[in-house]
Amino acid sequence: MSLTTSLDMLRDAMEGGYAVGAFNAENMEMVQAILSAAEEARAPVIIQTTPGTIRHAQPAVFLGMAAAVAGTLRAPAAVHLDHGDSLAIVARALRAGYTSIMIDGSREPLEGNMAVTRQAVEMCSPCGVPVEGELGRVGGKEDDMEDSGGGYTDPDEAEAFVAGTGVSFLAVGVGTAHGIYKDEPKLNTDLIKVLRARIPVPLVLHGASGLPDEVVRKCVRLGMAKVNFATELRMAYTGAVRHSVMSSPDAFDPKLYSRAGREAVRNLVLDKIRLCGSEGRASHLFSRKEGARWWMPQYFTHVRTSVTRRSPRPSPGRARCSSGSGQPASAARTFPVWTGTPRISSR
Ligand code: 13P
Repeated sequence: MSLTTSLDMLRDAMEGGYAVGAFNAENMEMVQAILSAAEEARAPVIIQTTPGTIRHAQPAVFLGMAAAVAGTLRAPAAVHLDHGDSLAIVARALRAGYTSIMIDGSREPLEGNMAVTRQAVEMCSPCGVPVEGELGRVGGKEDDMEDSGGGYTDPDEAEAFVAGTGVSFLAVGVGTAHGIYKDEPKLNTDLIKVLRARIPVPLVLHGASGLPDEVVRKCVRLGMAKVNFATELRMAYTGAVRHSVMSSPDAFDPKLYSRAGREAVRNLVLDKIRLCGSEGRASHLFSRKEGARWWMPQYFTHVRTSVTRRSPRPSPGRARCSSGSGQPASAARTFPVWTGTPRISSR
């Protein structure tokens, strides 16, 4: 099916007491692996890329790969910008057709974080694209950013943040960190309970690689609706590629070792989907023949009818595409959009 937004998936997860796995992809094989695992598990899934990954290729490259693969499958999939670090990168991802966006202003003081997050929401909401914000700090290394972390989310601030920004979901600091854990993380699970009770939008757990299974299960049980995995996937892919190259040193076809990487990531993603409890949550889509509209009311109604949307205008400090941008109506233009499987012309 066509790509969907993450909003309905995550609301359903919040209500259903499970989590949608969000998996960072670095190349085509990882995109294929994530979608193939979701298809086998009949699960909704989120593929995400960091700004560093986007800089390595182009957002349109990842979006194109995900749309092409997802178009041949039935599992609902969203493509998400992970840790967007500027409004300019938000605009790039939005233009490419990303169906879900994160703006991470958590390094800023509360007011600055709220301001940049609000601007991202103003850019994305006219396009029907949900926005994830972050409050509190997830430590460790993700992409080009390194953070000492330790910032647990304050529930009062979180309530004000969600109300003041209009974010669709919230990444919270509860003691996890990105990357490999050197010491056992000190998770505050009571805080998850409090946040779940007070915050009206789905909560996101970052830094899930390396957490024991029972800890992930508990976080999901207590209310995390999106769980992010990156480092473990990178390690699985690279480990399998390394093993393949070393065991066949004379081989030179890249497909050989990248296939090994793909298989390793696929198996890992299947495990994580089961861990999050999302296996089978999209089963009803598999009994229909084609073109299910479930999961995609907002974005794809919008896209399929080729609604005009305003141009995001990236600039070093500022980029907007919202109705609040102050641009005259004439600045609006129609964007080329994905309407499903891309057509490849034969010549
Ligand atoms: P890990 O690298 O620890 O899996 O964290 C992933 C993440 O939170 C991406 O935003």
